Amino acid sequence: KDSMHKDIKDILITEEEIRAKCKEIGAQLSTEYDGKFPLAIGVLKGALPFMSDLVRHMDIHVELDFMDVSSYGSGTKSSGEVKIVKDLDTKVEGRDLLIIEDIIDSGLTLSYLVDLFKYRKANSIKIVTLLNKPSGRTAAISADLVGFEVPDAFVVGYGLDYDQRYRNLPYIGVLKEEIYQEK
Ligand code: PRP
Ligand code: MN
Ligand code: MG
Repeated sequence: KDSMHKDIKDILITEEEIRAKCKEIGAQLSTEYDGKFPLAIGVLKGALPFMSDLVRHMDIHVELDFMDVSSYGSGTKSSGEVKIVKDLDTKVEGRDLLIIEDIIDSGLTLSYLVDLFKYRKANSIKIVTLLNKPSGRTAAISADLVGFEVPDAFVVGYGLDYDQRYRNLPYIGVLKEEIYQEK
């Protein structure tokens, strides 16, 4: 079988650790949004597994919507310009937004989204990210809630892809160098 697992060098964060963290953050968000009806916004595609697990640990009413954005730019450097591929179906004005991400790297995706939602007159904006990679940051943005800090390594799994693969790994792992050096 052509298993995904053999392409992984190390497991950085296990399934159990992710599960415990979703439970912890979900409980915290349930308290923070008690009495409100937040709009949870998943940033496609990477946020899908985390969003799915996190919202099931939020014991309050929450509306779900999705946004798909892609950043322009040549090569590995993003220009900071972001294009909306799929916009929300929901009106943002006056809403309490919870933006859900798998990882913050440069911060460009999120700083674009935060500016956009401020312009659309959100009542409040909170950012939750499973992973934070501070070494990659170029935009001045930080999350309100972070699951785990990760080092400057090629991490995949639980939503994070390399060339659209590995999103369905149940853990966060570091990809073997030979996988991305093949191309
Ligand atoms: C990845 C990741 C974050 C973003 C973080 O998404 O899921 O959304 O990049 O990078 P940044 O902080 O430098 O903007 P990507 O654009 O690869 O799309 P995907 O979620 O479909 O993989
Ligand atoms: Mn993404
Ligand atoms: Mg990606």
